[in-house]
Amino acid sequence: MPEDTLTITDNRTGKSYTVPLFKGAVRAMDLRQIKTGPDDFGVMSYDPAFMNTASCQSAITFIDGDKGILRYRGYPIEELAEKCTFLEVAYLILFGELPTESELREWVDKVTHHTMIHENIKKFMDGFHHDAHPMGMFVSTIAALSTFYPDAKNIHDRHSRHLQILRLVGKVPTIAAYAYRHSLGLPYVYPDNSLSYTENFMSMLWKMPAEPKYEPNPVLARALDILFILHADHEQNCSANAMRSVGSAHADPYVATAAAAAALSGPLHGGANEAVLRMLDEIGSVDNVPAYIEKVKAGHVRLMGFGHRIYKNYDPRARIIKQTADEVFKVTGRNPKLDIALELERIALQDEYFVSRKLYPNVDFYSGIIYQAMGFTPDMFTVLFAIPRTVGWLAQWQEMLEDPEQKIARPRQIYIGHGLRHFVPMKDRTGREVPETQKV
Ligand code: CMC
Repeated sequence: MPEDTLTITDNRTGKSYTVPLFKGAVRAMDLRQIKTGPDDFGVMSYDPAFMNTASCQSAITFIDGDKGILRYRGYPIEELAEKCTFLEVAYLILFGELPTESELREWVDKVTHHTMIHENIKKFMDGFHHDAHPMGMFVSTIAALSTFYPDAKNIHDRHSRHLQILRLVGKVPTIAAYAYRHSLGLPYVYPDNSLSYTENFMSMLWKMPAEPKYEPNPVLARALDILFILHADHEQNCSANAMRSVGSAHADPYVATAAAAAALSGPLHGGANEAVLRMLDEIGSVDNVPAYIEKVKAGHVRLMGFGHRIYKNYDPRARIIKQTADEVFKVTGRNPKLDIALELERIALQDEYFVSRKLYPNVDFYSGIIYQAMGFTPDMFTVLFAIPRTVGWLAQWQEMLEDPEQKIARPRQIYIGHGLRHFVPMKDRTGREVPETQKV
């Protein structure tokens, strides 16, 4: 018997099957042969929320959640955050290798020359209500780009794909900044090609019309660059899965990215950074932390910014963000919310509830505190996550399209509804008792 196999005995029939292990996994389709008879569909795997199912093979990001390890294309996140710029890491994630000097120059130049957006997109954004959530504006505007670039439908053409990648990586900061300016009622600021990716973003956010040129603070620009590096990819998370799933139907990358961004907006995913700040506001002071922890333990609320599906150890990104916070606070002054966050972490990390469930701070726990100190309002936090994650989504999308094993994503279900029943005319229908759980 070959070693890399599993033997499965079907106790219904007494039959045994030997199935190969593929890189430590069972291929779910190999279970289909296990049947009780010719009319039996065969065994499926059942895995709500993909708790133990690999949906793809990927060479982009490696995570060891027990050890708290995160690597992009093999490089530790700590080294990349210390030594690289965001666009350098974006190149690595998208194309597999760190760029040479000339490759980086060309890449930065091309991205920089795709930062402008069509004037009609500006008009489109003007249509949003003054208090529209920037994440809603971001998602909708990214989807709207699809109508401006119909050539993006050529998803099997590598050159076209590359062009859409340049456009998206170039334009997401512009759209994010315009969403921000719109919410403040300020005029939009055109991109400045003499600035770096994050400096230009800061200029589009904060340049005042009377200023001839925006002078970004180098410490804050670097901090933003590091935060972008940390958020650039995280393998098969909810939004990457949305990107791959929508992309698998051969939808264009703009609508697929919009779908991924929509997934990111949820409070259990990227929306957690905004939720953390709202939670810290609600707690109000360090004295109230123990009572809040009790509320969490009683199951009334979740400790936002804590816990992760994959990390059962300290999220390595949270550690780097904590260090970055010190640099930022030297410029902006200390955000008083940090004390509440540190106290939450201190108590949680020694409390049986959190220890036994292996709940540690995740990337969203400290990022909002830095963003707020830099001057962002909480509703912008998830947009700040979406800008760099666009790179990860696009890398996942490319990889999915080039993987010969991938097809349209289409899970199975276990049907639990009615068996066959026949139409009942209106006059013969009787009311039904509505179960408590379905009452609205
Ligand atoms: N506060 C309190 N209890 C928690 C928390 C939390 N933040 N997270 C998990 N738990 C408990 C949960 O109640 C459950 O307890 P029990 O076994 O008694 O029912 C246990 O821990 C396992 O939780 P789960 O919900 O089954 O775990 P999951 O892998 O499905 O969820 C998560 C992961 C990130 C959605 C969850 O930890 C959570 O809701 N955290 C708060 C939101 C958050 O910070 N999200 C950002 C995630 S990192 C960045 C990103 O993805 O964008």
